[in-house]
Amino acid sequence: MIAPAAQAQDWLPPGSAIEETGPPPIEYIRKGIVRDDRWLYGRLLFHSPSLLGEKAVRIALSCNSCHPNGHVNKDFYIEGLSDGPGRIDLSHHFWQAGQEDGKSNPLDIPSLRGVGHTAPYGSVKSFPSLPAFTRHVIIDEFAGPIPAHEDMMALMAYLRSLDFKGSANDAADVSTSPDMRYLSLLEAPLAAKDLAVLDNLVDLIRGDIGRNQKKASPKAIRLVTGLLTIREQARRGNFETARAEYRRLTQ
Ligand code: HEC
Repeated sequence: MIAPAAQAQDWLPPGSAIEETGPPPIEYIRKGIVRDDRWLYGRLLFHSPSLLGEKAVRIALSCNSCHPNGHVNKDFYIEGLSDGPGRIDLSHHFWQAGQEDGKSNPLDIPSLRGVGHTAPYGSVKSFPSLPAFTRHVIIDEFAGPIPAHEDMMALMAYLRSLDFKGSANDAADVSTSPDMRYLSLLEAPLAAKDLAVLDNLVDLIRGDIGRNQKKASPKAIRLVTGLLTIREQARRGNFETARAEYRRLTQ
């Protein structure tokens, strides 16, 4: 089912605000980037709290919460961890006990536009490469699970596609975060009868639909029900039925 958006607040100190109040910033994607399955999956992970572990799941926090569309959430504020909006202390026991540095040191959330070209990464601890810094963010700062190799590759494909504002982008490559049709990601595992990949995608896409709906719209309910049907049929080995349901949903 679709989780009500208010639930995340129950786990945060009163006065916190992790969602933006205004419209999200524009997502600048580098010219010529092919938005293939890997890029699309990387974008889905960027929006998925499960990448960052248990705590993040409870408060519905993803990379995109702090870096919406690869830019900055200027409203982001967690009481006790922020000393102003858009700033956050990542080395605080709130995230994980082992990482407390005993200091209150909130930092500005930086933009990730053009991040493929801005090495080295991080101001407190410096990392030479984007994968190394991203692993540090996920594992050390958020106590998230060690990311699978394919997940890291996909996340890198998305991060490296983020472009600087006002670069040689033509209008066709600039988007304002429309529905990215994550459903198409199901096509490959349905064809290959890969249940593990399918399972994971169904969970991630369901979560994404839930987070983007303030209220459960009929369309969202139809999508989520359809996703669960696809998974159920695939689990029973009925891949024909699962594929038929997929076609019905994507018509
Ligand atoms: C709670 C807010 C928050 C979340 C969630 C978050 N970040 Fe960040 N991010 C920051 C802050 C603050 C910094 C600055 C850290 C520093 O300077 O050491 C940062 C820095 C970065 C940088 C370095 C940018 C540079 O130019 O040095 C990258 C890359 C990055 N984050 C990627 C990610 C990715 C990928 C995720 C998800 C896996 C993520 N972040 C989740 C707040 C966040």
